[in-house]
Amino acid sequence: MSKNQFIEKQYGLEKNPFLDRIAREKWLQTWVNREEQLRVWKRVISELESEKRNNVVLVIGDYGMGKTQSLFKIIDEANKSKYIFSSFLNFRGEQRPSNPGLDFMFRIIQSIDFNRLEKIKSKQEIINSITDISSDFDEVSVALSQCWSKDQYTRRLSRYFITGQTKPTKTELREIGVIRKIDNIDIAKEYFAGILYLLKTLGYKSLLLAIDEFEYLFSLVTRAQQSVYLALVRGLFDFPLGITVALDVEKMVNIALFLGISEDGFRRLREIENEEAAVGGPTRPLLDRVTTTTLYALERQSTRLLIEKRLSYNRKSGVFEDKPLIPFDETFVDYVLELSRGSPRQIIWSCSQVLDAGIEHRVSLLDRETAQELLKEREEV
Ligand SMILES: Nc1ncnc2c1ncn2[C@@H]1O[C@H](COP(=O)(O)OP(=O)(O)O)[C@@H](O)[C@H]1O
Ligand SMILES: [Mg+2]
Repeated sequence: MSKNQFIEKQYGLEKNPFLDRIAREKWLQTWVNREEQLRVWKRVISELESEKRNNVVLVIGDYGMGKTQSLFKIIDEANKSKYIFSSFLNFRGEQRPSNPGLDFMFRIIQSIDFNRLEKIKSKQEIINSITDISSDFDEVSVALSQCWSKDQYTRRLSRYFITGQTKPTKTELREIGVIRKIDNIDIAKEYFAGILYLLKTLGYKSLLLAIDEFEYLFSLVTRAQQSVYLALVRGLFDFPLGITVALDVEKMVNIALFLGISEDGFRRLREIENEEAAVGGPTRPLLDRVTTTTLYALERQSTRLLIEKRLSYNRKSGVFEDKPLIPFDETFVDYVLELSRGSPRQIIWSCSQVLDAGIEHRVSLLDRETAQELLKEREEV
């Protein structure tokens, strides 16, 4: 019997359930702890349904503490409401954008998934809603309606155009039916506003944007450009204040930003705030208004629960069993807690190491001693 066959047969584990150390929607089923933060997030989410107000929430945590997973959790909570449309985007960039503000706006627009919208609302409903907003928007409503054109090419062209993925030629602009390119931030904001109107007409009350790895801001661009981003986030908070066309706040959905940011990134924001103290800038007014939530290390009980939940995942069948596929005892929990210091990613890493070796040696109970031995052996290899 091959090793894998043995694992499958003995444990129903095709692979080690701890190997996957990346946050995924699937892992919401093994969610533990964070009750306090969840209370704050849920409060903001419920306000999004009832109040006319924008929101910015920071989800702060060191590497592996669960920022990405928490953003998934927030989206999952928000999606329970039919009044909130949510989207997820990552701030990380491979290239330095030549126009950071515009790039950011495009990324936001791009994250609003038209295909998903189409699954929730019917195409006809969307087309009708675009007609409804056309009196407030000229070009924007034309380009938006072309995003639902019957002609496949025009539809694709228009979608690439409003998400900044193509630089249209004159002919292409004519094909879409617009005159202006989206080459500055004000025009991009107009398009964004158009989408906010559209969502409102469709019956939504808020757009929730979960933006991950916001600290990339600091590696991506120069100090001056960082201010552009921060000013933009602040601008979104006050949206539609400061945008050139006259807009009716009542006709657009609220915006809620949930920003995942590392502890270092947050410290850096505070520094910028101090630097700005004398000269002014967007950071203080931004930080003044944000709600902050911080993810700390897990305590013992949650560590235990995370181990148990992950170990109950049967990868072969893709379901969560009632009890762990390999039993473990309390000394094992203590050991994992010591190794990981309560970082979810580290817990998962430690367990993965021990489990791999444990499966190989057909260990029937995981305890501190076996875990120590297995890990030592791993290190020697
Ligand atoms: N509250 C939680 N409950 C269960 N697992 C979690 C929790 N938070 C994070 N994890 C898991 O820990 C690992 C690291 O989380 P992740 O969100 O990627 O961290 P970060 O984005 O802060 O670096 C992922 O495998 C994720 O599924
Ligand atoms: Mg992450």
